[in-house]
Amino acid sequence: MPGEERAAVHHVSKVYGAGPNRVDALRGVSLTFGAGEFVAVTGPSGCGKSTLLHLLAGLDAPTSGTVLVNGTDLGRLSEEERAAFRGRTVGVVFQSFNLLDILTAEENVALPLVLAGVPAAAAARRAQEALARVGLGGRTRRRPAEMSGGEQQRVAVARALVSAPVLIVADEPTGNLDTENGRAVFDLLRGVAGENQRTVVMVTHDPVLAGRADRVVRLEDGLVRSS
Ligand SMILES: Nc1ncnc2c1ncn2[C@@H]1O[C@H](COP(=O)(O)OP(=O)(O)OP(=O)(O)O)[C@@H](O)[C@H]1O
Ligand SMILES: [Mg+2]
Repeated sequence: MPGEERAAVHHVSKVYGAGPNRVDALRGVSLTFGAGEFVAVTGPSGCGKSTLLHLLAGLDAPTSGTVLVNGTDLGRLSEEERAAFRGRTVGVVFQSFNLLDILTAEENVALPLVLAGVPAAAAARRAQEALARVGLGGRTRRRPAEMSGGEQQRVAVARALVSAPVLIVADEPTGNLDTENGRAVFDLLRGVAGENQRTVVMVTHDPVLAGRADRVVRLEDGLVRSS
């Protein structure tokens, strides 16, 4: 159904540290992300972009306010429940690819499923499908050291996709890539945003890439400047 809400933050604040070390990373942010939307998040260094993504992914909890993903209020879940919910619902891609060097591409992608208790054969099959989706069907047995940066980031996207999440958050996924590989990863993320009403929220410093998203959210000093 178009217009359906996939995720939202309501009056969210995040404070790190205390006393003289206090940092107000987010200062009352409200945003809604629609099902199937591809949203770019931009803003100067330190404005709270990664903090917002961590909250949406359930990797961290806000100091105050509400985070909703797929209709679930993450604040009502225990830390354990939040981790399980994240495993089923959210895929995460970082600037550094965070692949395990000793595992092949297929093993890296299958790992979240194996850790979630999926039998090895089924996990391997789903990993192969996810790698085919990102255009690496012929490279499933390579290790990270044998792949280019762009290929490694596509493996990381496949790993985020393998659990069929309805939300993907990507924190500067093109930040370590040259222009051409950055475009390829961007196009890939834009493509998977359409599939099954999946929503993608991507942080980028690149105004050209941001301009090609469905919508741009600009943060400044912990507040929404425009959205
Ligand atoms: N774990 C932490 N402990 C203390 N302060 C933190 C922590 N994480 C982030 N901060 C601070 O919170 C503010 C927002 O950080 P955040 O990482 O969200 O910024 P960002 O917009 O992602 O910046 P960049 O573009 O440099 O990645 C910054 O002032 C940062 O120093
Ligand atoms: Mg950041």
